[in-house]
Amino acid sequence: MAKSLLKEQHTESLNIKADFPLLVRQPSLVYLDTASTSQKPQCVIDALVSFYETSNANAHRGVYKLSNKASNCLEDARSCIASYLGAQSEQEIIFTKGTTESLNIIAKSFLKNRLNSGDRILLGGAEHHANIVPWQVVARETNSVIDYIPILEDGSLDISSIEKLISPKTKIISIAHTSNILGTTNAIKEITNIAHKYSIPVAVDGAQSVSHQEIDIKELDCDFFTFSGHKAYGPMGIGVLYARSEYLEEMSPFLTGGGMIEEVNLDHSTYVSGPQKFEAGTLSIADAHGLATAIQYIQNIGLDKVANHERSLTEYAEQKLNKIEGLNLIGPLSNRPAPIFSFTLDGIHPHDIATILDDQNIAVRAGHHCSQHTMKRFNINATIRASFGIYTTYSDIDALVDGIIYAKKLFNK
Ligand code: ALA
Repeated sequence: MAKSLLKEQHTESLNIKADFPLLVRQPSLVYLDTASTSQKPQCVIDALVSFYETSNANAHRGVYKLSNKASNCLEDARSCIASYLGAQSEQEIIFTKGTTESLNIIAKSFLKNRLNSGDRILLGGAEHHANIVPWQVVARETNSVIDYIPILEDGSLDISSIEKLISPKTKIISIAHTSNILGTTNAIKEITNIAHKYSIPVAVDGAQSVSHQEIDIKELDCDFFTFSGHKAYGPMGIGVLYARSEYLEEMSPFLTGGGMIEEVNLDHSTYVSGPQKFEAGTLSIADAHGLATAIQYIQNIGLDKVANHERSLTEYAEQKLNKIEGLNLIGPLSNRPAPIFSFTLDGIHPHDIATILDDQNIAVRAGHHCSQHTMKRFNINATIRASFGIYTTYSDIDALVDGIIYAKKLFNK
């Protein structure tokens, strides 16, 4: 199909900027930082307001009708997320503050109890710091060792090395579904197949995949899956940890206090089972409700439509960016699986480019993107990163390309 026709059809079929009040109020803004946080549709903002206007009470703490309404709102959100992920039960869904907290819970409440001196943790070679630092902390505390799966020159994970890196001492594999830098998506099913042959549980950081493609936990066969609401068109401050039910019982609580106890005596306490064991204190029910609303919003559009739209945008951007002289894409040069582009420009610092783009109202991220070791892997200090969402248009990509060319001219490059 001719690119212009493709462009027209998609602009018509998925022109949904109108759903996003910030983008409506700022029509000249070219927002290309969805990997950092997504914009929020009106329905999510309305859901937050509506909770506080009509249902505000604490959940699971009162017998009165308003408290029951708040409890139902929270549990409906849990069911919605369980069903979206294809979990076996809503009892496998724990609300957290975000991916970072979810990964910390896996490291500290699950893995640490299983680690003995000399045990090993296997991580991807291009992980976000949130999928490295918690493991480093438990490794240090237990005298364990971390191994990393190498990243090939095209940004892909060297899956063929996994079996060689696994030993009887390997106690978990934790890996990003989609890289927040490289625009690559890892073959989780292949990894869980290998890991489960050796009875090794697999944790998946789904922060960059969950709102861009259909997720089926049963199909991926992972043991833990984490994501943040705010990258998935939902509110900030709410996230999810899916944990396979057989592991939930052995996990110790992460936070302790009200809401997670069964019985408290002056000298000891016992805890409830299920997700509430990990949800001490008052949860942000409004945000959980907002996240469920965001998920329903994406489902109403259709994950296949979202994925198609973003695939076409990615192809389009790939073609245009590859034509800019002196622009070096990090990761795959073609058939990029995810709508995330990190690049450098010969002779211009990424922060300078980002500042010049900002002067033209184009928002991109510049820096190491919370993954300093990935920068080292590619012998760079920083990149410019443009990342797309369902509201991104071809015109946004055109503006980015024009902005880069303008910046190059300013620097005589
Ligand atoms: N994790 C977010 C990013 O990659 C903040 O930009």
